[in-house]
Amino acid sequence: MKKINAVITGIGGYVPEYVLTNEELSAMVDTTDEWIMTRVGIKERRILKGEGKGSSDLGAKAVEELLEKTGTKPEEVDMIICATVTPDHPFPATANIIADKVNIRNAHGFDLNGACSGFLYALDTAAKFIETGNKKKVVVVGADKMSSIVDYTDRTTCVLFGDGAAAVLLEPTEEEIGFRDSILKSDGFGRVYLNMKAGGSAYPASHETIDNKEHYVFQDGRHVFKHAVSNMADVAVDIMKRNNLDSEDMAWLVPHQANLRIISAVADRMGIDPKQVMINIEKYGNTTAATIPLCLWEWEKQLKKGDNIILASFGAGFTWGSIYLKWGYDGK
Ligand code: UT7
Repeated sequence: MKKINAVITGIGGYVPEYVLTNEELSAMVDTTDEWIMTRVGIKERRILKGEGKGSSDLGAKAVEELLEKTGTKPEEVDMIICATVTPDHPFPATANIIADKVNIRNAHGFDLNGACSGFLYALDTAAKFIETGNKKKVVVVGADKMSSIVDYTDRTTCVLFGDGAAAVLLEPTEEEIGFRDSILKSDGFGRVYLNMKAGGSAYPASHETIDNKEHYVFQDGRHVFKHAVSNMADVAVDIMKRNNLDSEDMAWLVPHQANLRIISAVADRMGIDPKQVMINIEKYGNTTAATIPLCLWEWEKQLKKGDNIILASFGAGFTWGSIYLKWGYDGK
């Protein structure tokens, strides 16, 4: 029997309309366009407005586009995984809410929290279900409404994040394309440097947690930066080595979009030409689980069947990893 490979057969994406610019942020906190552009590389980010709107609203739009583009009927989807750190509610899973909104019924569905590595963790999980023959059509969504956990009086975090979602369809193939390899890691020592302290079982919401602003993202940026550069570059270089890829074999690097300086350092270590690195941080900022699929969504037309692509991420946990794919279809 031939080996079953898992291949991405389509992408859908969605970013909300509202554009939050560096100029607008400069009127809210003590920051400047110059600081944000030179230290991080973000010009603007999208924000989801509207009472009662959550990550599922972003995710549902992305999945709707995905189903339409791939000609997939909702009833054909047998699994949906949503990577997010900003679920609509602690439970039920945002994957279930997205499924309901796009009319996917009776599919195996759950959320996965790998923070900024969430999309890679979810894609890896989905690929295993396809490769074993257990599932035939799996939707993997990265969706985060980061504006719901950002303190817009804290200049060290509010300039960094944005809202967005993107989704891919994973299907089986016997061709030598699709998901090839993954290196995924985590180390909980890093949990103190990037987290949201309250709202879970350790510190449930109380007047005190709200007064202490503990329902917002906390980040010790310098510490995270240092680990992000070395860990992300290590796994990206390792996956190239163990698959005998050198920079000339590579079509694209798709890095998590947290900081342009981190992206450049990783690309440098891999020896990849900057023109082969997908970068859209300037327009969307850090959308956590959505950054990597949003890049694939934007670059889809330029992708060719057989392109060697490495995805790489680093995020809260700490979690980090790399995935090597051979792209499955010519962009259209
Ligand atoms: O996606 C999940 C993983 N996250 C990451 O990978 C993020 C990793 N970290 C980073 O990207 C960077 O550390 C940041 C962009 C968060 C911060 O950049 P930095 O170059 O590391 O700045 P810093 O934290 O060392 O702060 C430098 C200075 C400080 O002032 P002092 O103490 O030197 O007087 C900050 O208070 O910049 C100040 N600062 C700002 N100034 C203007 C911090 N935020 C701002 C701001 N505008 N928005």
